[in-house]
Amino acid sequence: MQRAFAILSALAAAAAVLACPGDEHDHVHQHGKREYPQVPLTAPTRPLEWSDVNVIHTTDSHGWLLGHQHLSFPEPNYSGDFGDFASFVTRMKAIAKEKDVDLLLIDTGDLHDGTGLSDGFPAGQVDGHETNKFIMDLPYDVLAIGNHELYDYANTYDMYTNFAPYWNGRYLSSNVNITVYTGSGNETTSVPVGERFVKFKTGKGRSVTSLGVLYDFTGNDVNTTVQTVAKMVKEDWFTEAIKDEPDFFLLLGHMPVRYDNWPTVYKAIRKVHKNTPILIFGGHTHIRDCTQLDGRSMSLESGRYMETVGWMSANLSGSDTENITFTRRYLDANRVTYEYHANKSNSTFDTTAGKNITAGLQKLWNTYDLSFLYGTAPQDYTLSRDPYPSNGSVLSLLVSEALPYALSINNTRVKIPNIILTNSGELRYDIFAGTFNENDQLTALPFADAFLYIPNITLSVAEQVLPGLNKDGENDRRSLDLLEREAERYARGDVSVRYNAWLEEMSARRIRSRADSDDANLTLGYVTSDQCPGDGDDTPHTALPYHSSPDYISSDSPSVSNDTLIDFVFINFIEDDVLEILNSVQSDTKYTDSDVLSYSPILASAVLGLYAQGNWN
Ligand SMILES: *[C@@H]1O[C@H](CO)[C@@H](O)[C@H](O)[C@H]1NC(C)=O
Ligand SMILES: *[C@@H]1O[C@H](CO)[C@@H](O)[C@H](O)[C@H]1NC(C)=O
Ligand SMILES: *[C@@H]1O[C@H](CO)[C@@H](O)[C@H](O)[C@H]1NC(C)=O
Ligand SMILES: *[C@@H]1O[C@H](CO)[C@@H](O)[C@H](O)[C@H]1NC(C)=O
Ligand SMILES: *[C@@H]1O[C@H](CO)[C@@H](O)[C@H](O)[C@H]1NC(C)=O
Ligand SMILES: *[C@@H]1O[C@H](CO)[C@@H](O)[C@H](O)[C@H]1NC(C)=O
Ligand SMILES: *[C@@H]1O[C@H](CO)[C@@H](O)[C@H](O)[C@H]1NC(C)=O
Ligand SMILES: *[C@@H]1O[C@H](CO)[C@@H](O)[C@H](O)[C@H]1NC(C)=O
Ligand SMILES: *[C@@H]1O[C@H](CO)[C@@H](O)[C@H](O)[C@H]1NC(C)=O
Ligand SMILES: *[C@@H]1O[C@H](CO)[C@@H](O)[C@H](O)[C@H]1NC(C)=O
Ligand SMILES: *[C@@H]1O[C@H](CO)[C@@H](O)[C@H](O)[C@H]1NC(C)=O
Ligand SMILES: *[C@@H]1O[C@H](CO)[C@@H](O)[C@H](O)[C@H]1NC(C)=O
Ligand SMILES: [Zn+2]
Ligand SMILES: [Zn+2]
Repeated sequence: MQRAFAILSALAAAAAVLACPGDEHDHVHQHGKREYPQVPLTAPTRPLEWSDVNVIHTTDSHGWLLGHQHLSFPEPNYSGDFGDFASFVTRMKAIAKEKDVDLLLIDTGDLHDGTGLSDGFPAGQVDGHETNKFIMDLPYDVLAIGNHELYDYANTYDMYTNFAPYWNGRYLSSNVNITVYTGSGNETTSVPVGERFVKFKTGKGRSVTSLGVLYDFTGNDVNTTVQTVAKMVKEDWFTEAIKDEPDFFLLLGHMPVRYDNWPTVYKAIRKVHKNTPILIFGGHTHIRDCTQLDGRSMSLESGRYMETVGWMSANLSGSDTENITFTRRYLDANRVTYEYHANKSNSTFDTTAGKNITAGLQKLWNTYDLSFLYGTAPQDYTLSRDPYPSNGSVLSLLVSEALPYALSINNTRVKIPNIILTNSGELRYDIFAGTFNENDQLTALPFADAFLYIPNITLSVAEQVLPGLNKDGENDRRSLDLLEREAERYARGDVSVRYNAWLEEMSARRIRSRADSDDANLTLGYVTSDQCPGDGDDTPHTALPYHSSPDYISSDSPSVSNDTLIDFVFINFIEDDVLEILNSVQSDTKYTDSDVLSYSPILASAVLGLYAQGNWN
């Protein structure tokens, strides 16, 4: 999907048409949008365990600042918006003050790419520039850069010039640089996007040394640089930064807490400081996870898309060598959760600033015309809760219904039978029953990829390409080749393998314990099993069903004879792979780039909207 991110600017042109310049009134247009949960949500059952040092953690928010707005479960559980979250933080800060303890607020990156609020910007603007302003409305103590800040130089440059300076040294990019023009404008230099580290004192006077580390990401744009974690810990500045002992190390990073390089950073610090407390906050794989590298350290990862707010507490007033008492919790991000932990009611919870943030976000929503309605979806279509192929699969909806419909519009080749092929990663999110608007379209499939075709391919040849593309995954699942390819995709930023493995594991556990009637009354959601003591989930849930799907998917074969010449249509993103397989399943013609033609001016990002307009009204 990397290439797709790089052409997000093309998307800007499309969004410009929809912008609504007349919207300058002071009052907020509601457009039927929710400020409070529209369905009853039950509260968590146990209070958070406060200690000396407490931390609230957001990560991988990807523009989901107006919360999850659809009514299909478990979406309402994540219906809290960023204004609600701001009120929560203010209320929790007040409790911390009362308890006379520290409460820190931190974020570990990926502020870009995810919803209409971040991605629906008009031409000439930059992804996330407006949503970042709302991040800046919250009292974050430290923040770290994510890989989604680096797919497009314009985004990184915006972080460097507008976001990082606002935080006065608290926006960290320990191993990430940007190349900028300096001096008279002829020369370029590579400089950290934010700061490499920061030392500060908490409200209660504890000294903190903090880093902001990015995993070994390779999909970054030109003129941005990611240094490997292994190299970073050998830098002089790193040695110097960790030399003096703080009261605790606060390590932020856009890097998962397991199966990645946190141990490298941890060991480098432990070599110098055997017992100093180390609080680690990770991100990137979009899961809830926790582990302890030793008894005086805890590592927490807090999900994605403002579904989860992470909590960690640590008792640092015990002895200098014994195990530290840590707790961690994964909060479902909604008002009911927030009110419960803040000891407030629906009517006493909101702060003026929080309400103002909600109003500001709704204003941005209106400016981008994200309520623009394409149609009303008759049911849920999911990425992995329904099997592929099936009526409930959003992948089936795309290849069996939406693509054949949308690509036939105004197409002179409409009478020629075809097969349409795409990679399943083209879809980014589920579609839920109810309104399907501009925000839903940008959330589910924002990539401005084009459709290409090769004419005069016999049906029997065309039908062999899809199995050919998917085959390596099926036959030798463990082959070195596959593992290598997965590692490469991971390095370029694709987290689907790790995230799906997490969903699959939760679902499998549910099936194993189905006889357990305790589950009977629970609602759908995440059911975390991590490596830290006690239950992590704030609200118990029953796991969502999980079904895996192939990497490549295609429309159904036309009912014509095997030797019929058809149009073989595919998304431009996978052209190289398609040509390779096409040339391996037949030898009559050696197909090259020059045989590939443009099939339709309609881009992938428009397909679902066109389908909804034609079929869901
Ligand atoms: C999640 O949604 C279900 C269904 O409405 C609800 O019963 C459950 O309590 C919710 N969880 C939270 C934390 O709100
Ligand atoms: C922290 O630990 C100390 C020593 O074990 C104990 O006295 C204190 O009550 C604990 N503080 C909290 C907030 O649990
Ligand atoms: C970005 O990279 C290109 C190609 O290496 C170079 O020509 C250009 O000057 C760079 N821009 C900046 C701002 O450094
Ligand atoms: C910058 O480039 C201009 C035009 O090429 C040149 O005249 C000028 O001397 C250069 N300045 C520096 C500081 O190199
Ligand atoms: C990052 O920027 C610093 C400061 O200019 C420079 O010393 C360092 O070499 C750069 N690191 C990389 C990996 O480019
Ligand atoms: C301290 O924590 C470590 C790691 O979590 C654990 O292996 C060890 O048993 C603990 N020691 C005590 C005394 O609890
Ligand atoms: C919370 O308050 C709002 C605004 O007064 C109201 O619209 C909503 O119905 C209330 N929700 C609950 C669950 O009481
Ligand atoms: C409300 O939000 C707007 C931006 O959306 C900001 O300009 C203004 O200062 C805020 N007002 C208050 C009272 O926080
Ligand atoms: C198809 O053509 C008609 C007539 O020219 C035009 O109005 C319409 O916008 C086109 N549809 C698409 C999706 O391009
Ligand atoms: C495809 O086949 C048709 C009829 O057999 C022929 O007229 C046309 O030129 C062919 N097109 C290409 C690109 O080979
Ligand atoms: C589930 O809910 C029903 C109705 O509220 C209740 O009677 C029953 O005891 C509950 N079962 C469990 C296992 O909690
Ligand atoms: C069409 O091709 C498929 C696979 O190549 C083959 O199984 C099938 O028998 C063929 N059908 C006809 C009618 O030739
Ligand atoms: Zn992310
Ligand atoms: Zn990421």
